[in-house]
This record gives sequence, structure tokens and C-alpha cells, in this order.
Amino acid sequence: MNITTNSPEETVLLAEVFASCISAGELILFFGDLGAGKTTFTKGFAKALGIADGVHSPTFTLIHEHEGAKKLYHIDLYRLETQEEIDGLGLEEYLVPDAITLIEWSERFRELPENHIIVKIETTGETRRSFTFSSDHLDDPFFEAMKKEYQKRCIF
Ligand SMILES: Nc1ncnc2c1ncn2[C@@H]1O[C@H](COP(=O)(O)OP(=O)(O)OP(=O)(O)O)[C@@H](O)[C@H]1O
Ligand SMILES: [Mg+2]
Repeated sequence: MNITTNSPEETVLLAEVFASCISAGELILFFGDLGAGKTTFTKGFAKALGIADGVHSPTFTLIHEHEGAKKLYHIDLYRLETQEEIDGLGLEEYLVPDAITLIEWSERFRELPENHIIVKIETTGETRRSFTFSSDHLDDPFFEAMKKEYQKRCIF
């Protein structure tokens, strides 16, 4: 499923709608270049869980934990180069039923963890971003319902 946003505000709204559609226990894997909007999307996602601030790029601290309506782990793999370094994070500890985990720079995985939702972001203009959602366990109707809800709420 594909959605284009035309501003950071629209991306935040898209993330809020997405957050309201998914359950605890989900793992969100971002793919997208520097400045694509992974952190912006995560801020919108956190906002929907009642986490107002404190979400910023975790590039230096690899893992940030936030407490909201649900527990949120925000991870950035940008600086990791080998699978050994990724294994060293002990990701299993974060992939638990009561938390939602969002991972920036999932390109770094040699093999993707199972039960994921992929959010691929492409920069298609200065303020335009193309989002492609896919999953190994959620089907197309799930994402189509989310798109409808976004289009209903998008009043920008
Ligand atoms: N439609 C849009 N959606 C999201 N961000 C946008 C959009 N248009 C412009 N931007 C700008 O693009 C930048 C996205 O930055 P952000 O930190 O979210 O990217 P990132 O993918 O997390 O990058 P990094 O790989 O460095 O962590 C922000 O400055 C934001 O204002
Ligand atoms: Mg970022």
C-alpha cells in the first residue's frame, strides 16, 4: 500500500493514524535515506501514544525507551556495520508483546526479524515523501483501511 505525504505535518498525521491501527507487540522496520522522515514519523507515532516530546534521532544512543499508552522502543542501526554488532544489541529483549518497537536503518539487517511491518520512505520532492507499507503477517485490507482513515482525516 502506498501513500504520499506533502509536508512533515501530513507525515505526523499518517503516523498517528498508523499508530491507532496497530497493536502492542508489533515491530516496525523503516527503510529510507537520510532525511527521509523516519524520525518525523516516529514522533507522530509517539504523539498518538501520548508521548509528547523526547523523541529525537537516536543515532548516538542506539536505543530510546518511551512510556506512553504503550511502551515504545526507538532504535537506530545507522552506526552498526556488522551482523555481530546487531546481534550484540539483544533485540529479543525489545521484541516483547507489551511493547512496540520502531527501527531506523533496517537496511543494516542481513536477515529481517520475523513478524514485522515495513515502512519504506522515498523522498520524491522537497516536502514530498512516498510511503510504502508492507508486512509478513498483516494483509492488504488492513493497510487499505488505514489509508482510507488517513484520507478521511487529512485536511491539509
Ligand atoms: N513530507 C515530509 N515528511 C517528513 N519529513 C519531511 C517532509 N517534508 C519535509 N520533511 C523534512 O525532512 C526531514 C526529515 O528528517 P528526519 O529526521 O525525520 O529523517 P530521518 O529519516 O529520521 O533521517 P536520519 O536517517 O538522518 O535519521 C525533516 O527536516 C522534515 O521537516
Ligand atoms: Mg532519524
